[in-house]
Amino acid sequence: MKTLPSLRPRCRWILAGACLLVIAMPAFALENGLARTPPMGWNSWNKFACNVSEQLIEGAADAVVSSGMKDAGYTYVVIDDCWQVSRDAEGNIVADAQRFPNGIKAVADYVHSKGLKFGIYSDAGTGTCQNRPGGRGYEYQDARQYAAWGVDYLKYDWCNHSTQDSASSYALMSDALKKSGRPIVFSLCEWGSTKPWLWAKDIGNLWRSTGDIVDHWSKTEKWGGNGLVQIIDLMDGLESYNGPGHWNDPDMLEVGNGGMTNTEYITHFSMWCLFSAPLMAGNDIRHMSPEIHGILTNKEAIAIDQDPLGQQGRRVRKDGDFEVWVKQLADGSRAVVLLNRSEQPHEISVKWTELGYPEKLTATVHDLWAHKDIAKGARSYSATVAPHGVSFVTIVP
Ligand code: GLA
Repeated sequence: MKTLPSLRPRCRWILAGACLLVIAMPAFALENGLARTPPMGWNSWNKFACNVSEQLIEGAADAVVSSGMKDAGYTYVVIDDCWQVSRDAEGNIVADAQRFPNGIKAVADYVHSKGLKFGIYSDAGTGTCQNRPGGRGYEYQDARQYAAWGVDYLKYDWCNHSTQDSASSYALMSDALKKSGRPIVFSLCEWGSTKPWLWAKDIGNLWRSTGDIVDHWSKTEKWGGNGLVQIIDLMDGLESYNGPGHWNDPDMLEVGNGGMTNTEYITHFSMWCLFSAPLMAGNDIRHMSPEIHGILTNKEAIAIDQDPLGQQGRRVRKDGDFEVWVKQLADGSRAVVLLNRSEQPHEISVKWTELGYPEKLTATVHDLWAHKDIAKGARSYSATVAPHGVSFVTIVP
């Protein structure tokens, strides 16, 4: 073998460059090419908690298609906690045979037969949040099993982690998924407790940035649950960590679960779209009112969520209960939310300079809920916003 000094000068440079590249590479780099826009789908937890079954999941898959949600972009059907009961003598994870009599692969096959993708849930600790078996120590075995079942999406929780380090625990499962040979979206669910936005970009495709959502306009639970406005506030400041393939996740949607008014659900959905948040419906989509169906399938709002630039909108003004949020879009236009957190209707205005535009620019204002242009040649925008409501518009120069 030739030693470095005996190589021709050009070869020496190439070799040194290659070494530098290897040194500069992170230990785990997520190169799965998935979730280039925020993932969309349905998850069982918010409405059904542990009451999951083959019948429920297959019924949800049917409803994603028949309700038009699939056409609107919803793709992943995810079973959350409680599908698993034990491990067998070889350590393989065992599904609840009563609730899933044909096994998990049969459910995955059914979901795939509808042209949808299939997701599942586990936990980086020794047990899930409902104390079912967790993934700790079985990462590679579980990843191989998930790949064999046809899993396309894994949500990985953070209960029962004891003294584990979060970044290395999630990096281990990320590596196991990569080595499983199947492209699997990796959704980290450690509730923002160790600031995953600082370390998870090369490990997962999305990470929960907040504790669990609860179906209330405003609430702070002792166990960490947050109402809508609490989550909105927690997202402020995380803008720079979002982008194609790696998303802040303010948790799944509560739209349609009954704890908020339809005005509040429109605010919830609009803010998630402004955030470029994953849109995982969490209601009983087999039985939805036309209003809830209309919110979840608003294609103009969803286009803002799925904008290819992948920017998370930011708060540019807060005057007490009255706020202005803006998101830059790939075509140079802006999506804007005027948010009224008060109990009274209130007029809120925005100047173009707050959006990063020159004062004298003229623009078309398009209302994303009324589905029409509401001003042309405009040099500012103002609207009377309902209590707990939004005006959600695009400003197109
Ligand atoms: C945690 C997660 C929830 C859900 C439950 C299941 O609380 O944050 O989204 O997955 O566990 O037990």
